[in-house]
Amino acid sequence: MRYLKIFDSTLRDGEQAPGFSMSVNEKLRMAASLEKLGVDVIEAGFPAASPGDLESVRAIAAATNKAVVAALARLNKNDIDLAHDAIAGSAKGRIHVFIATSDIHLKYKLHMTREELLAAVREYVAYAASKCADIEFSAEDATRSDLDFLIEVLKTARQAGAGILNIPDTVGYAVPEDMRRIIKAVRSVPELKDVPLSVHCHNDLGMAVANSLAAVKLGVDQVECTCNGIGERAGNAALEEIVMNLKVRPAYYGADTHIDTTRIMKTSRLLTMLTGVKVQPNKAIIGDNAFAHEAGIHQHGILENRETYEIMTPESVGRTESQIVLGKHSGRHAFEEKLLSMGYNVPPERLDALFADFKTLADKKKTVDDKDIEALLKNVMSEIPETFKLDRYIINSSNMLSSTCSVRLLKHGKKTPEGSSMGVGPIEAAFNAINIATGVKATLSEYRIEAVTGGIDAQGAVSVRIKAGDNAYKGYGVDPNIFEASVKAYINAINNMLYQTAKHSDDTENTKDE
Ligand code: KIV
Ligand code: ZN
Repeated sequence: MRYLKIFDSTLRDGEQAPGFSMSVNEKLRMAASLEKLGVDVIEAGFPAASPGDLESVRAIAAATNKAVVAALARLNKNDIDLAHDAIAGSAKGRIHVFIATSDIHLKYKLHMTREELLAAVREYVAYAASKCADIEFSAEDATRSDLDFLIEVLKTARQAGAGILNIPDTVGYAVPEDMRRIIKAVRSVPELKDVPLSVHCHNDLGMAVANSLAAVKLGVDQVECTCNGIGERAGNAALEEIVMNLKVRPAYYGADTHIDTTRIMKTSRLLTMLTGVKVQPNKAIIGDNAFAHEAGIHQHGILENRETYEIMTPESVGRTESQIVLGKHSGRHAFEEKLLSMGYNVPPERLDALFADFKTLADKKKTVDDKDIEALLKNVMSEIPETFKLDRYIINSSNMLSSTCSVRLLKHGKKTPEGSSMGVGPIEAAFNAINIATGVKATLSEYRIEAVTGGIDAQGAVSVRIKAGDNAYKGYGVDPNIFEASVKAYINAINNMLYQTAKHSDDTENTKDE
């Protein structure tokens, strides 16, 4: 059985998709989880894209020991220098350089001739290789490129020092036969016969996993993918689907990975918790319904023998509900046991707050299950200081009058003057009142609410995005009362805004001092 390398791009291709941005600390948590999951390469970001990206790649490079940490760079000196700087602290760093090779990109995006592009590949891959021993070269839009030219480019990149060549289906246009044709053609070139190959497929037509697996079947060495399949537009190939295909069909693929499949669910849930973006219920492997058997005939089969309708066990991907059921009589010991059984090692300084939140929830809700605890954890683990905290609010809403809300907050523990406002509905009234109480001029650009569990007493988890000037900030709140969850989410977004703004001005001050 050969081993396929898993190159995870959750923190780069995934994070750059709208709605999936993460702070440096959030990315660090995700990277630690990816390393435990067993990915071979963590693509940590694109340092030239923003100072925040540079900072996160640096932090991840310094904190990661086992996995290779890759930094993305366009084929120019500045990007390569920044990528090199970002991975300098890594035990195993990789610079991942890319340039588009299709005629449409050459003409309209790069304004280059094929000869100019070949010269750039020669010069800058060699430059990157002079700085770092591990260079990956990607031919962006490879699947829509002229095959002879693509091969010319790959040969040039190899000669210039690229250790691994990546063939991306950047726009998700390919079918499996295209992937097979391209890989066979590349492999038939004597200079590329043994070069490590990688694929990177997007999901615009829902083919990312199928296209990646067609390449795996032909023996490529690495697959690029993301947790929960997140990524540009319709996303990238989903890591969990690639890995479980190899596990469930070993005789067909003849390949395995170093992934600890029992950590798949935990990693997926962490990503959901950090980004606030839920997985669709029918998503393979990780969706809520992926192992749920509703039809009577299926249930009957499952009860007789699970293999009648299950090709893999929920346990094999880490879908285990722990046996400890918590309620209002549960004590701290049982609560801590529960956290450990769920794989969470909560730092002692956060445990008190989490236990207090749990007790408040247990008073309102009959049983507190794993999802409830994860929803509370998201709050407690947040790095955002609670500049403003909810003290009390009153909301009036009916179908006969405008809605009204009065809210009083604590600012650094001290009561603020009450803010009151009207609105078309209770949410608008509440958010206007919070703007008045905080003195912040923010507008709501996104609002999402979800029940954390089933049942009439379920907690509502609210995710908001607010805009202030050109910047957007996310916020999150959870409570069995959905108005309270909304109010908490909006206050959290304002606290986030204050925190990010202060951090940004600190960074500027520090740069001025240098
Ligand atoms: O989709 C793509 O082509 C990419 C490259 C940068 C590898 O993300
Ligand atoms: Zn991509």
